[in-house]
Amino acid sequence: MTKPVSICVIGSGYVGLVAAVCFAEMGHSVVCVDNDESRVKTLREGGVPIYEANLPELLKKHRGHGVEFTTELGSAVERSDAIFIAVGTPQGDTGAADLSFVEAVVSEIARAITSYKVIVEKSTVPVYTNEWIRRVMQRYGIDHALFDVVSNPEFLREGTAIVDFLHPDRIVVGAGSERAARLMESIYEPITGGSYYTRTDALLGACSSETPAKLLLTSAQSAEIIKHASNAFLALKISFINAVANLAESVDADVEDIAAGIGLDSRIGHKFLHAGLGYGGSCFPKDVAAFHWVAQQQGLNFELLQEVQRINDAQKDVFFNKVRSALWTLRGKKLAALGLAFKRDTDDIRESPALSVIKRLIEAGASVTAYDPAAMDRAKEVLPPSKQMKYADSAIEAAEDVDAVLILTDWKEFATLDLAELNRAVRFPIVIDGRNLYKPLYMAEQGFTYVSIGRPAVYNAQQGKPRRLIA
Ligand code: UGA
Repeated sequence: MTKPVSICVIGSGYVGLVAAVCFAEMGHSVVCVDNDESRVKTLREGGVPIYEANLPELLKKHRGHGVEFTTELGSAVERSDAIFIAVGTPQGDTGAADLSFVEAVVSEIARAITSYKVIVEKSTVPVYTNEWIRRVMQRYGIDHALFDVVSNPEFLREGTAIVDFLHPDRIVVGAGSERAARLMESIYEPITGGSYYTRTDALLGACSSETPAKLLLTSAQSAEIIKHASNAFLALKISFINAVANLAESVDADVEDIAAGIGLDSRIGHKFLHAGLGYGGSCFPKDVAAFHWVAQQQGLNFELLQEVQRINDAQKDVFFNKVRSALWTLRGKKLAALGLAFKRDTDDIRESPALSVIKRLIEAGASVTAYDPAAMDRAKEVLPPSKQMKYADSAIEAAEDVDAVLILTDWKEFATLDLAELNRAVRFPIVIDGRNLYKPLYMAEQGFTYVSIGRPAVYNAQQGKPRRLIA
C-alpha cells in the first residue's frame, strides 16, 4: 500500500479540480484551494461547477474525506508536501501565455512556506517557467533548500478528463532534484505500480495492473516543451487533415477514406485525423500561439505553427461558404444549428468553431435556432436570445421549418438523429455537416441534400445537382 502524500492543488478549474479528486481517488490527502469564494462554497456544499463525466461521482466519494476545499492558501500550503499550481494561463495580446496568476500564487506560497515543499507546475506554461518560479521564491528570500520546482504537465481532455488522469498514456515529470523526483514518483505510485487498478472500486480504462501507467522523468525544460509540443502536434494533425479535406473535395475524393488509409499506417495512427470545422477549446488555439511565441523568443521562426493556425481559421470560412453555396443568399434564411460546444461531451464554448460560424451567419442576416445537449446556458451568455438567435429544447425542435440544418458539434446525439422525423420537421431537407457525422449516400437515400467536409456533396432527388455557381 502506497503511503498517502499530503497534496495541495491551487485552482479548481478543469485541471485543478480533476487533479484534486483523482489524487484523492489514488488515496492521497488533498486540499484544493481557490480564491473564488462562491466556487469554493459550491464545492463544499456538494455542487459540481463543471460538466465532466465521472466528476460528480468522484466528488461525492471524496468530498470532506480525501479532498477538502478552501480559500486559505497559506494554511493549505503549510500542511502539504507537494503544491500543484493549476491556475489559468490565458493568452495575452502577443500570443504569449499570461503568467500573472501563476506569479501571484507563487508569491503567496513564498509567504507561507516554512518547511520543504515540492512546487509543481500543472498549468500549461512556457519553457523556463520553472526557472521564473524559482527566482520569485528567491526574491522573497526563501532558502533554495526549502523547495524544488517540478514540471508535471497535464494531458487530459475535457469530457474524458477523469479517465485520462487515472489511465494516462504517460505521466511526465520534469524534476531537477532526486528528492523532488522521488516524491512525484510516490504520488503516482498507485497507478504506475498498478495497485489502483486492482481495487474493486477503480474506474476502468486503458491501464491495468499488468499494464500500469508509465512515468517519464525529464528535465523541467523538457517537460514544459513536451506539453506545448504535444498540443501543437495534435493541432497540426487536425489542420493537416483539414487541408487534405479541401483538396479531396476539389477532386471528388473522400477525406474519410483518405484518413482511414493514412491512419492504418501505424507510424501515423488514425487519431486526430477527423476533418471538420477546425479545432477550438481553451487549449489548442492558445497553446499553438504560445508555443510559436516561445520559439520567437529564442530567435526561431517556427512558421509551421502559424500555418497550422491559418488553416484552422480558414476552415470556418470554408464551412460558411458551403452554407452560402447551398442557400445562395443568407438574409432572412432560417437555420438550425446543432451544437454550440467546441466538441462533444462538454459544455465548454471557449473558442468554439460553432459559435464563430453562428455569429457570422447572423451578421449575414440569417436567423439561427440552436440546440446543444449541454452548452446552451453558457452560449446564452455570449449570444443572448434575440430575434435572430433562438434556442430550442431538442434537435428536432431547432429544425422546425428551417431552410437548412447545420451540424456544428460532434455530439453522439447528432449522429443518431431520427432522420425521418428531421425530414418532416424541416422546410427544405438540406443538411450541412461540419463534423462528417453521416455517410453521404445514406443521407441521399433518406431524402436529404447533404454537404459535408472533404467529401462529395449529395443531392436530394427533387433538387437535383446544381451547377457550381459560387466558387
Ligand atoms: C486537448 C488535448 O487533447 C489534451 O491532451 C490536453 O491535455 C488539453 O488539450 C489541454 O491542453 O488541456 P481538449 O482541448 O479537451 O484537449 O480537446 P480535444 O479532444 O483535444 O479536441 C480539441 C479540438 O480539436 C476540438 O475542437 C475537437 O473538435 C477538434 N478535433 C479533434 C478535430 O477537429 N479533429 C480531430 O480529429 C480531433
